[in-house]
Amino acid sequence: MPETLQDSLKKEVGVEAARLIQSDMIVGLGTGSTVRYLVDELGRRCHEEDLHFTGVTTSRRTAIQAQSYGIPIVNINDVDHIDITIDGADQCDKHFDGIKGGGAALLWEKIVAVNSDYYVWIVDQSKMCDTIGAFPLPVEVIPFGSQHVISYFEHQGYEPVLRRDALGNVIHTDENNVIVDLHLHHIDDPQALSEDLIHTVGVVEHGLFLNMVDKVIIGSKNGPTVLLNPYK
Ligand code: A5P
Repeated sequence: MPETLQDSLKKEVGVEAARLIQSDMIVGLGTGSTVRYLVDELGRRCHEEDLHFTGVTTSRRTAIQAQSYGIPIVNINDVDHIDITIDGADQCDKHFDGIKGGGAALLWEKIVAVNSDYYVWIVDQSKMCDTIGAFPLPVEVIPFGSQHVISYFEHQGYEPVLRRDALGNVIHTDENNVIVDLHLHHIDDPQALSEDLIHTVGVVEHGLFLNMVDKVIIGSKNGPTVLLNPYK
C-alpha cells in the first residue's frame, strides 16, 4: 500500500475515533502514527468545540503532543478509572488477538489498556490478518541479563533481534528497558507463546494483546468500518 494512502486511512480512523470522546471523560491516549491523528483531532475539538477531558498517556511522546494542545495529562496513578482508551495496533486477527509495540510503548499501553473501561483500536486495513506474527513481536526486557533472555529466545527458535535505532544504538523504552523483536512469521498458538514469554525471567511484558480490545475501527478507501468484539 503506498504510504500516502496508508496515512490517509490512519487519519480517517483517528478523526472517526475522536468522535467517541465526550467532555469530562478520562481518556487513555495510545502511541504511534495513527494516534497522532487522533490527538490532532482531539486538539482541534478542544479549541473549536469546547471539548474538555483529562488524558492518561501511554508514552511521553503522546503526552508532549497532547499538552501542546492544552489537553491536561495526569499520571495513571492519580485516576481511579479510565473511561475509554484509543490506541493503534500493528496487527489484528479475527479472534481480536493482536500485536502491539512497534513504537516501543507496549508496557505502558498494556497497563493503560487493562485499566480501561472500554478499549478501542484504530488501524488501517493493512493491519488486519488471518494469523498474527508477520509483524515481529516486540518483547520488553530488563537490560540486566538481557543477553541471556535473547539466548533463550534463540534456543526456542523465536529469531530474536535486539531493537536499535538507525544509528545502531540500542533503543530504550520509557521505563529504560530494551525491546527484543521476535521474527516468528506466524503465531499459531498465541496463548501458549504468551505464557512462555511472561514466565521468562527478565521479560517485563510482551506485545501480544489477546482478546483485550472491545472495538476495532478499520480505515479503508470506502470509509471506516467498525468491528465489535463478541468474545469479551
Ligand atoms: C506503539 O508501541 C505501538 O503499539 C503502536 O500502537 C502500533 O505500533 C501502531 O503504530 P502505528 O499507528 O504507527 O502504525
